[in-house]
Amino acid sequence: TRIAVLASGRGSNLLAILQAIAAGTLDADIVGVFSDKPDAPAMQHVPEDARWSRDARAFPDRASFDTELADAVAASQPDWIVCAGYMRILGEAFVQRFRGRLLNIHPSLLPKYRGLRTHARALQAGDAEHGASVHFVVPELDAGAVIMQAVVSVLAGDTPDTLAARVLQVEHPLLVAALQLAASGRMSEQDGVAWLDGQ
Ligand code: GRF
Repeated sequence: TRIAVLASGRGSNLLAILQAIAAGTLDADIVGVFSDKPDAPAMQHVPEDARWSRDARAFPDRASFDTELADAVAASQPDWIVCAGYMRILGEAFVQRFRGRLLNIHPSLLPKYRGLRTHARALQAGDAEHGASVHFVVPELDAGAVIMQAVVSVLAGDTPDTLAARVLQVEHPLLVAALQLAASGRMSEQDGVAWLDGQ
């Protein structure tokens, strides 16, 4: 199974995928890491010939950046494309081109807290539980069908940072588990619903 990863930052989720592949628990190859931030630490996790990045700010508009990104992703011939800490909104054309094999990991229990600052918002709401979701990407931000979620307790004294760190710990096995399903060929999106073929 060929996996392309989109990442803008630290890349701990990418690292978790690479470690699962190295450990033999995920039968896949990372065929490319793609970034809107040329100096993203995530890029350091893969060899230079697997890296693609352009500074999104150098492009006149979202569509022109997205087209170059989409062509580069397509050239790597991925079966699945995973946004793992990719912090730039993907335009409709990009999403439609890869729809059904485009996944995202989002740090909230969707449909709660789409968008940014999820940990602060969960704390502010007084939630007892928080977590992360892996979902299919659709044009509307963080609105696609949820595949899997992981839950953590909110603890007394949590700050957005301590809560984010606890969520991140469950993100890594969650993303690997979702990709194991994807690699098994049993997972698909049909009419906006995530389907698991239970065999
Ligand atoms: C993760 O919390 C992910 O859910 C969010 O951004 C963070 C990325 O972390 N979208 P990393 O770059 O994978 O370490």
